[in-house]
Amino acid sequence: MKASAIVPAGGSGSRLGLKTKKPFVALGGKPILYYAIRALEREGSIDEIIVAAEKSQVGRAKNLVRRFGFRKVKSVVAGGSTRTASVKNCLDAVTGDPDVIVIHDAARPLVSGRMIRESIRLASKYGACVAAVPESDTVKLGDPAGFIRKTVDRRNLFRAQTPQAFRTSLLRRAYKSYGAGRKVTDDASLLEGAGVRVRILPGSYRNVKITTKEDLKMAEALL
Ligand code: CTP
Ligand code: MG
Repeated sequence: MKASAIVPAGGSGSRLGLKTKKPFVALGGKPILYYAIRALEREGSIDEIIVAAEKSQVGRAKNLVRRFGFRKVKSVVAGGSTRTASVKNCLDAVTGDPDVIVIHDAARPLVSGRMIRESIRLASKYGACVAAVPESDTVKLGDPAGFIRKTVDRRNLFRAQTPQAFRTSLLRRAYKSYGAGRKVTDDASLLEGAGVRVRILPGSYRNVKITTKEDLKMAEALL
């Protein structure tokens, strides 16, 4: 089983609202981006990692790779204006004909090795998988006037995370036919749109996505 990894780190972190671009904001004394790369680098079945960084941050990301001695990072490419565009650019830089491609956001530094391995296993078995946790809040559907329309049954609701992993052929096909212009916030949506059945991989509530300053504090505490 050969796998390649893609790390979308091409966002600026506008909701975090700091001067430093989110992937380079310090967490436990190291840039947020460091953790995702480290977790992927440790996996024996992953032999290359492609990182997307914002155009102006490509040099900075390359320095990070050098500074921490990450040997599997084969290229740092310029991201696009959306996450999907950034992943697309990474996909174009994947070499080595992997069976599976695992995609993991730089914004989720607390991913475990178990979850990465499990994503690769499930992708090779089912074709596509996404880490997700059951929704634990009561979920309401609102209306534009600011009132509740109804309460949604949460029993089958999940919050999608990364890693998300796919058979290379399926991912390439989905990006070819659906990639351009469609507004989605993760990769599994593209495959769902193409009619692929996506397997749910039990994620973790620890695997937080750093979006706001509160998330940053939470991640510090969980580190
Ligand atoms: N991402 C990317 N290219 C973009 C936008 C986002 O590679 N054009 C990456 C981010 O770097 C992040 C992941 O996709 O690792 C998830 O995005 P998000 O958490 O929304 O990060 P940002 O877009 O940077 O934050 P914000 O939406 O608050 O600006
Ligand atoms: Mg964003």
